[in-house]
Amino acid sequence: MLIHKRSDFPKGFVFGAATSAYQIEGHKHGGAGRAMWDDFAATPGNVIRAEDGATACDHYHHYPADLDLLKEGGFDAYRFSTSWARVMPDGRTVNPEGLDFYDRLTDAMLERGLKPCATLYHWELPSALADRGGWRNRDIAGWFGDFTEIIMGRIGDRMHSVATINEFWCVAFLSHFLGHHAPGLRDIRATARAMHHVLLAHGTSIERMRGMGLGNLGAVFNMEWAMPADDSPEAVEAAALYDDYYNRFYISGAFKGTYPARVVEALGQHFPDRWQDDFGTISAPLDWAGVNYYTRSILAPNDGPWPHHHSVEGPLPKTQMGWEVYPKGLRDFLVRTAAEYTGDVPLWVTENGMANADTMTDGVVQDEARIDYFNAHLGAVRDAIAKGVPVKGYMAWSLLDNYEWALGYEKRFGMVHVDFDTLARTPKASWHAFREMLGA
Ligand code: FCB
Repeated sequence: MLIHKRSDFPKGFVFGAATSAYQIEGHKHGGAGRAMWDDFAATPGNVIRAEDGATACDHYHHYPADLDLLKEGGFDAYRFSTSWARVMPDGRTVNPEGLDFYDRLTDAMLERGLKPCATLYHWELPSALADRGGWRNRDIAGWFGDFTEIIMGRIGDRMHSVATINEFWCVAFLSHFLGHHAPGLRDIRATARAMHHVLLAHGTSIERMRGMGLGNLGAVFNMEWAMPADDSPEAVEAAALYDDYYNRFYISGAFKGTYPARVVEALGQHFPDRWQDDFGTISAPLDWAGVNYYTRSILAPNDGPWPHHHSVEGPLPKTQMGWEVYPKGLRDFLVRTAAEYTGDVPLWVTENGMANADTMTDGVVQDEARIDYFNAHLGAVRDAIAKGVPVKGYMAWSLLDNYEWALGYEKRFGMVHVDFDTLARTPKASWHAFREMLGA
């Protein structure tokens, strides 16, 4: 059971669930173009069992039933994303079927009284643009601006909110430095350029949407609380550096028009020419900021090349991902983000949840661990609100079990179980707990 009540949160506080296009829609449907995740998954060793998003949850066809689950669960909002490769299969040419799909989806949300909260980019870069250098190419800012105008020209009039980019750190660092996500590069110079270009694309997209008269615009930053493995100055420095390039870099660019000094010192030589001139675009004012939060990281120094550190295993209970459950980090991030970056700008928890090795017995999925996780993190949100942080909404990740990127269909994050053979949906205990709490 969830121990919180709607009335424990400020009036008008929005509860939602989040998903993303490639993870649920079924990329083989509706004329979607090849995306870099299709290529990444087709390359041996990148994704468990080389699984891809061709079918996923087939939300492309099941979306009315999926939106019913949100409505019946008592949720107020749905955070979804618009696939660039579906709307513009080669990144530049419009696929009318793709636009039609998001148009239908939007109306279906409104018919159910759900607030549509769009994210423009949740990682399925069209392969044709990856061919042209993807996030390494400065031109991506204009390409993304064009995509923004096309998709928002169709559905922008009905959005409750729009985010540009989901998780800047993952787009740039996880995918170009660590190589864990598409395009799977491990290249420091590609990383530095992607870090800057993803922010430039964000700012360009905001400019275009302002030009269209759209409002309630923001972006989604993922954060992982960084802690030193011990109290040695080297470990403390390792955690501070991780904090800078993971948590602070993007929100500092967007809200302050600067990058943390440690990151500039290490990567500045790889940034594009005259990168400082771009902050006028990058730090255009935003109406809200989203924080995605799952866990913390514990850093120890090493003798390797930059960043001279690695993460070590912590002692706390872990989720199916091996991620420690550390709710205090969510409260501390909300407090810190408001104090140091966003001020009075509304904050949203745009993702929070856990993977669990769920099992179904007699049609029932008793995911108590997930309910405990939500309880603890909703408590952290309440603590932040009590400290005066303007948190306006909370989106659970995720509505459905789905394609968990490099981990394929193995890790289950849903409040609704999906049988990936039959595509049957079964609400788990956590969905029922939300339903009870939200008073549906
Ligand atoms: C976030 C992603 C989301 C999902 C969760 C578990 O980093 O935004 O797509 O994979 O993690």
